[in-house]
Amino acid sequence: MRTQVVIIGAGPAGLALGRLLEQAGVDAIILERKSAPYVLGRIRAGVLEWGSVELLDRAGAGARMHAEGLVHHGTALSFDGDRLHIDFTDLVGKQVMVYGQTEVTRDLMDIRQGTTIYEAEDVQLHDFDGKPWVSYSKDGTSHRIDCDFIAGCDGYHGVSRASLPASAVSTFERVYPFGWLGVLVDKPPVDPELIYAHHERGFALCSQRSPTRSRYYVQVAADEKVEAWSDTRFWDELRRRLDPQTAERLETGPSIEKSIAPLRSFVAEPLRFGKLFLAGDAAHIVPPTGAKGLNLALGDVALLGSALIEALQEGSTAGVDSYSVRALERIWKAERFSWWMTSLLHVFPETGGFGRRIQRAEFDYLMGSRAARQSLAENYVGLP
Ligand code: APR
Ligand code: PHB
Repeated sequence: MRTQVVIIGAGPAGLALGRLLEQAGVDAIILERKSAPYVLGRIRAGVLEWGSVELLDRAGAGARMHAEGLVHHGTALSFDGDRLHIDFTDLVGKQVMVYGQTEVTRDLMDIRQGTTIYEAEDVQLHDFDGKPWVSYSKDGTSHRIDCDFIAGCDGYHGVSRASLPASAVSTFERVYPFGWLGVLVDKPPVDPELIYAHHERGFALCSQRSPTRSRYYVQVAADEKVEAWSDTRFWDELRRRLDPQTAERLETGPSIEKSIAPLRSFVAEPLRFGKLFLAGDAAHIVPPTGAKGLNLALGDVALLGSALIEALQEGSTAGVDSYSVRALERIWKAERFSWWMTSLLHVFPETGGFGRRIQRAEFDYLMGSRAARQSLAENYVGLP
């Protein structure tokens, strides 16, 4: 087989890139290790910056998002029960869209016209410094695809970054000593807005998927096991971390999904290796506190998509040459914001009383300073 671009991974990054390329008439094949239902079964975050909304619109994948997504004009922070409202519209004149990543993925799958090969096993990347090709096997038969470029959109555990010699790539990482235990429930959200709450027992987040479906999280130790958390234990813990009025309003029910995600900050540099490019979680991970993971992935592929189209259709290498530097500039700003939100709101066992006083001072500064709130809002809704 031959195609112009082989995309590894059919998560939101790979699917969005595939769509941008096919709209421009560039031929691409997506290779995905798992099945489509498996990919759609993963529950992930659900806040889209407006730039992401516009990208999905341009991709022709925005109709259901506009019909079912919830436009949020602000968010709430709470610190030991004291509440702070961050009004995005007032502070920076922008909004975000609450719409689950699973739904974004489904919409992108639905409109895709090009080939996606699911359950592609043993994907391997070859000669990406010269004439690139990718091999894989499917139902016991091996295949080879020759191409002009390879896009590694295969997430943190993918094969693309792992194919690089260690000397070619630098990695920067912080692993946090805790994770998020998340529960999905068919009950109306406790609040019209998302609530990010700091409490001495740990962080909690009240999020939502629709007027009848909510997503809640509590900070847990990194080695915590999901089996140790009955629904009752989860709801009790969540209530204790919320201010009393919110705790009172919380509607609970049987969980329809419950899982623990570790928190990590990670960046690989550079993002280009000859004809191979990394995008999305293959290139970087942010802790979920700033809701940046999906938005960063879409930002990468917007840049990479135009770069590849320019190279293949106009013979200009300017975009592919500058992709890594341009994408990393944006990535590091989102890394900084996600690290900062995480540092403000979680309980860090090792920082003790000093660390907690600093967090409280940071929160009081936000309460008292429009400039500080504006900075938070500007980053949360997405930097240009
Ligand atoms: N071969 C083929 N496909 C692979 C391989 C492989 N060796 N390894 C991983 N994949 C697939 C995974 O099964 C997954 O479907 O690559 C896809 C990567 O998708 P995501 O992990 O969703 O990553 P990405 O598309 O970059 O989206 C980033 O996902 O994790 C969240 O917070 C993150 O919201 C952000 C978004
Ligand atoms: C979610 O709804 O899953 C969610 C929302 C906001 C975040 C993280 C996760 O910051």
